[in-house]
Amino acid sequence: MDNEILKVKIMKMEKEHLDSVVEIEELVNPNHHWSKDSFLNEIQNKLANYVCIIDTKNGMVLGFAGFWEILEEAHITSISVHPDFRRRGLATELMKYIVNSCYKKMIKYITLEVRASNFSAISLYEKFGFKSVGRRKKYYQDNNEDALIMFTENIWFDKFKNNFAQINNETLKVYNEQTV
Ligand SMILES: CC(C)(COP(=O)(O)OP(=O)(O)OC[C@H]1O[C@@H](n2cnc3c(N)ncnc32)[C@H](O)[C@@H]1OP(=O)(O)O)[C@@H](O)C(=O)NCCC(=O)NCCS
Repeated sequence: MDNEILKVKIMKMEKEHLDSVVEIEELVNPNHHWSKDSFLNEIQNKLANYVCIIDTKNGMVLGFAGFWEILEEAHITSISVHPDFRRRGLATELMKYIVNSCYKKMIKYITLEVRASNFSAISLYEKFGFKSVGRRKKYYQDNNEDALIMFTENIWFDKFKNNFAQINNETLKVYNEQTV
């Protein structure tokens, strides 16, 4: 694997990205992935906000994320990074994008569901200040796995803001050259 620091940009997810998005989705969730039509519906939904993180050198889609805006809450529906490009800070950049978008939209809380066994994702969310507040029993139909319900506290409170500032001050693992 090429370990040079990636130069990336975050762009609104468009129709032209969907083949690459579905490829990543199939690699990540071989048995229960979203279809191209599901993503098409999502990017046409006015309450949804989907972006791709793209290698500026060659235009490759390396990952994507999306959230729904529901009154004062944002609900993260997906965040995935291509398996060959993990642990290089890409999900961190996508999460930063989501949090900054929430500030712009005056959202107060961010929530999501995650498989109880998905330690890497849970660790990512905990890093951003999410806490597990409950469990949906057998939420995932493919294997009857429980979902953890994770929530931030109010993102305008100092505790969340200070933690977010600390993440923004970390040495960059990736150069994000442009965010929508
Ligand atoms: C979870 C996922 C998005 C992380 O992407 P990534 O680009 O590798 O993450 P980053 O490099 O930005 O890492 C950010 C933090 O996530 C956590 N993390 C990521 N991968 C991890 C792993 N394998 N083990 C433990 N912690 C991990 C760490 O806290 C890490 O911070 P650190 O590097 O300071 O330790 C990626 O593993 C993925 O696409 N998984 C499959 C899809 C998925 O499960 N999505 C979540 C659905 S709810």
